Amino acid sequence: MCTILHRILIVECACTPVRFFAILSMQRSGSGWFETLLNSHENISSNGEIFSVKERRSNITSITKTLDKLYNLDWLSSAAKNECTAAVGLKWMLNQGLMKHHQEVVEYFNRRGVSAIFLLRRNLLQRYVSILANDHDRSTKQLNGTHKAHVHHRGQADVLAQYKPTISTKSLIAELKRSDKLAADALVNFKTIRNIVLYYEDVVSNRTKLTDVLDFLKLPNIKLSSRHVKIHTKRLRDHIDNWIDVYNTLNGTQYESFLNGRR
Ligand SMILES: *[C@@H]1O[C@H](CO)[C@@H](O)[C@H](O)[C@H]1NC(C)=O
Ligand SMILES: *[C@@H]1O[C@H](CO)[C@@H](O)[C@H](O)[C@H]1NC(C)=O
Ligand SMILES: *[C@@H]1O[C@H](CO)[C@@H](O)[C@H](O)[C@H]1NC(C)=O
Ligand SMILES: *[C@@H]1O[C@H](CO)[C@@H](O)[C@H](O)[C@H]1NC(C)=O
Ligand SMILES: *[C@@H]1O[C@H](CO)[C@@H](O)[C@H](O)[C@H]1NC(C)=O
Repeated sequence: MCTILHRILIVECACTPVRFFAILSMQRSGSGWFETLLNSHENISSNGEIFSVKERRSNITSITKTLDKLYNLDWLSSAAKNECTAAVGLKWMLNQGLMKHHQEVVEYFNRRGVSAIFLLRRNLLQRYVSILANDHDRSTKQLNGTHKAHVHHRGQADVLAQYKPTISTKSLIAELKRSDKLAADALVNFKTIRNIVLYYEDVVSNRTKLTDVLDFLKLPNIKLSSRHVKIHTKRLRDHIDNWIDVYNTLNGTQYESFLNGRR
């Protein structure tokens, strides 16, 4: 039986139910990479950071309108595929109106049957290095005068990785606490939504996690691929200018395990 959510189709995909998802994440947590992996699946269409545009998240009315457009399959983007698209979604950062309007969004997700894919990062110090390096590149535009948040070539990644931030040890703990709390609050706020929780580090080291995601979306399991190249690949100490200070700041605290991070 085809309802409005089950498009009646022409050639090969007779009557495919379309599932809705949202990748809920934070900046510099591997969600760009993760989304390209999902989009390499012929049945998935993930439409990027739709809410990076401020007007779309200025109030709950705008948010709902934008989500309706996406999940009514009226969103036009390069990620739009064809009749065979069986899962449609977006990438939504916690600080893009999502936490601010969480009650209404939970109500919307439950009403429309939207599932959440949390993509979080275990090592928040590594994430912080990535944030600082990305901010630096935004202002210095190291690759031929263009800012690149993600790269596709090792050579470009190596250029970006040369920059070693000096981390303010005064605000470091507060900074880590802030992002730790944001992630924890998000898990609580959205716990009534059908969801799966992934950690970037686990997906990197264990590709079977991607099978979990495809199972979660009830899609055929195929090998996913991305052209994104990791920027920071050395030991963490080689990516931070004032490593000793950072080490001494975190040693003996609840965040000391972050110091052992490789990526
Ligand atoms: C919501 O935001 C949109 C876009 O910024 C604006 O045009 C509209 O007037 C706002 N509506 C309310 C109820 O504030
Ligand atoms: C996925 O897409 C292929 C064609 O690209 C189609 O044959 C298949 O039925 C689709 N699978 C699902 C679950 O929609
Ligand atoms: C900069 O541009 C030149 C010419 O377009 C190209 O050959 C080179 O690879 C680019 N360098 C980087 C770091 O992207
Ligand atoms: C890899 O991920 C799968 C799926 O979540 C899990 O069952 C398995 O235990 C993981 N393997 C390791 C070595 O952590
Ligand atoms: C880390 O802290 C412990 C005590 O909490 C201390 O014994 C150790 O020497 C510290 N490590 C370094 C490298 O300073």
